[in-house]
Amino acid sequence: MTGGPVRDRWAEWLLERRHGGDPEDLKTTMDFLAPVRDRVLRNAALMGGETLLDVGAGDGLIAFGALELLGEGGHVIFSDISRDLLDHSRSLARQMGVLDRCEFVHASADDLSVLEEASIDVVTTRSVLIYVKNKRRTFEEFHRVLKPGGRLSIFEPINRFNTVDWSSESGIYLGHDVTPVKDLAVRVQAIYERIQPRETDPMLDFDERDLLAHSEEAGFGGVHLEYEANITHGNPYLSEGRGWETLLKTSGNPKIPTLEEAMNEALTAEEIEGFTAHLRPLVERNEGKGMSAHAYLWAVK
Ligand SMILES: C[S@@+](CC[C@H](N)C(=O)[O-])C[C@H]1O[C@@H](n2cnc3c(N)ncnc32)[C@H](O)[C@@H]1O
Repeated sequence: MTGGPVRDRWAEWLLERRHGGDPEDLKTTMDFLAPVRDRVLRNAALMGGETLLDVGAGDGLIAFGALELLGEGGHVIFSDISRDLLDHSRSLARQMGVLDRCEFVHASADDLSVLEEASIDVVTTRSVLIYVKNKRRTFEEFHRVLKPGGRLSIFEPINRFNTVDWSSESGIYLGHDVTPVKDLAVRVQAIYERIQPRETDPMLDFDERDLLAHSEEAGFGGVHLEYEANITHGNPYLSEGRGWETLLKTSGNPKIPTLEEAMNEALTAEEIEGFTAHLRPLVERNEGKGMSAHAYLWAVK
């Protein structure tokens, strides 16, 4: 995909930078995401022939899964702020012969005014609220567009969990002990924290309790939330074979640089050499600590 047409940063990340352009890494990502998709759709309790709105549909992970489950009479509205991802999904839908059951809407999750009140049976979303500042308003929009009795099903990472006591300041970087090169790690980390300040970035300024509160305050009843947190020996994602070269070309989300870009910005060539000499073997032996948390929430209007 490298050298292809210039795409917006959302499309560029989802279709390339998320996996560093490495097909093996993409497969690892998809192996993780398929059960997430299935659980979001199970929690949505779909019935044939319904209309489902997938907010922040991206390249259609949830939306295409829903289309299959909804059957011939079912419709899926793909909404996203990325026109490139909407175009991408539209062309996939055409190739799959399901275009007549799809609609594509350019809208932000916190302003779904292009959609009528009480017009949707099911709203789904996965890993989108983390990018939206006004989450309360977003839940209000989900509630507004749903028919009475309509269902909401979401999955969101709870990133606050792994930023609490795990930072370059404490000599940990990417879950590895970087004490001997801590100063360099702090400078690389500072690049990320400048873009995503811990206290104010929408990806870090909420947790599962906020999701519950927003749902209830927006008017949902029958709200359920399942929270999962994992602390692992070794990063389970790295152990699937993500090499150093792939890690260098990967970024954790669309807003931030790859590790290679951050090192180039923060460090001199000599410092990059020293930092790499320390970190690379640790990454390759995968001796670090992995921390992650996420929540599934489903609710009824
Ligand atoms: C991590 S991707 C998830 C894509 C898809 N939901 C999935 O499960 O693979 C985040 C998506 O949210 C979209 N997005 C980011 N901010 C948004 C906003 N304010 N409103 C709607 N979509 C947004 C991005 O364009 C991207 O497609």
